Amino acid sequence: MKTTIIKVDQYSIQAEDMEKAGALIKAGELVAFPTETVYGLGADALKEEASKKIYAAKGRPSDNPLIVHIADFEALEEIVEVLPKEAKLLADAFWPGPLTMRFIKNERVPDGTTGGLNTVAVRMPNHPIALEFIRAAGGYIAAPSANRSGRPSPTLAEHVAEDMDGIIPMIIDGGQVGIGIESTIVDLAEDEISILRPGFITREMLEEVLGRPVVFDKGIDGCHPDAQPKAPGMKYRHYAPKAEMTIVEGDLQEIVAYINKETDRLLAEGKKVAVMATDEAVLNYKASVVKSMGSRNNPGSLAYNFYKILREFDEEEVDYIFSEGLGEEGVEHAVMNRMIRAAGHKKIQL
Ligand code: TXA
Ligand code: MG
Repeated sequence: MKTTIIKVDQYSIQAEDMEKAGALIKAGELVAFPTETVYGLGADALKEEASKKIYAAKGRPSDNPLIVHIADFEALEEIVEVLPKEAKLLADAFWPGPLTMRFIKNERVPDGTTGGLNTVAVRMPNHPIALEFIRAAGGYIAAPSANRSGRPSPTLAEHVAEDMDGIIPMIIDGGQVGIGIESTIVDLAEDEISILRPGFITREMLEEVLGRPVVFDKGIDGCHPDAQPKAPGMKYRHYAPKAEMTIVEGDLQEIVAYINKETDRLLAEGKKVAVMATDEAVLNYKASVVKSMGSRNNPGSLAYNFYKILREFDEEEVDYIFSEGLGEEGVEHAVMNRMIRAAGHKKIQL
């Protein structure tokens, strides 16, 4: 299949581009598109056959449900069995934006979209291209991140092309995304409100709007081997670079010393070593490839660069990656959550 890449300027979107993309979705095809979090791989969420194509294109296990993307709050009422009052509160505060809410679904949402679950996860992305595209496509777009299953999520159209060229008919190129990690997922389908995946919208932000406690799902960081995560996607090794990766946690100076010592050892064995650093320590490493995620004083910058750097390490064909560990709160926790999976849970505490 030939993949057409169309460049779209989010400040002057051409109606005919959106019509072309929308027509492909209506014909049951797949289109990759930018959102504010990561690029999505879209299909008509209400057509089982279309959603199934997503699983084939990504090589994704069929029990891993898809998020349904909408462009208007009214669209939500059409696909859920129960609309809790918290949904309106959170939507008023955070939609369009990087928050996904989980509800009990109604019969309009096919099982093929939700991996057989009776719940549906829904979000309204905060990106003009995504919103126009969703409307042009009929209002309901099922979209996972547009990477091959197991690869780092795409934050640039070029990343999507690396994984999907020749597999899907169209990629909408809207440039680099603004946030860089996937949406926060919050569960409104049960009495207790829980976060199923951490993201840019933090627990504190949710609690402030809801005026009640929000908990983290026990399976969220994969650290409790007995706790099955409620979001099936959280159980897979994810976002993985090709090289073996280890996270090093502790005092920053000790981290630098440890990584430099290990670098010497691996260099002597003829290995190519990479370091995922922060601005605060980036100049202190000896490894051949050293990249900074951003500053610890600006957690958003860490999210913005994280996946891109993982893909760059792949391109540089490094053998070994060390990454500085990050904090356990807010957006740093959200980046750490992805880092732990990328490293297949290999973590060293100094
Ligand atoms: O920011 C995002 O959310 C991006 C952009 C494209 O919108 N999408 C995204 O989708 O990250 P994906 O498929 O890569 O991750 C969706 C996660 C998976 O872990 C999946 O298991 C979980 O959401 N999920 C979806 N529907 C669910 C449901 N009904 N119950 C529990 N977990 C659900
Ligand atoms: Mg994903």
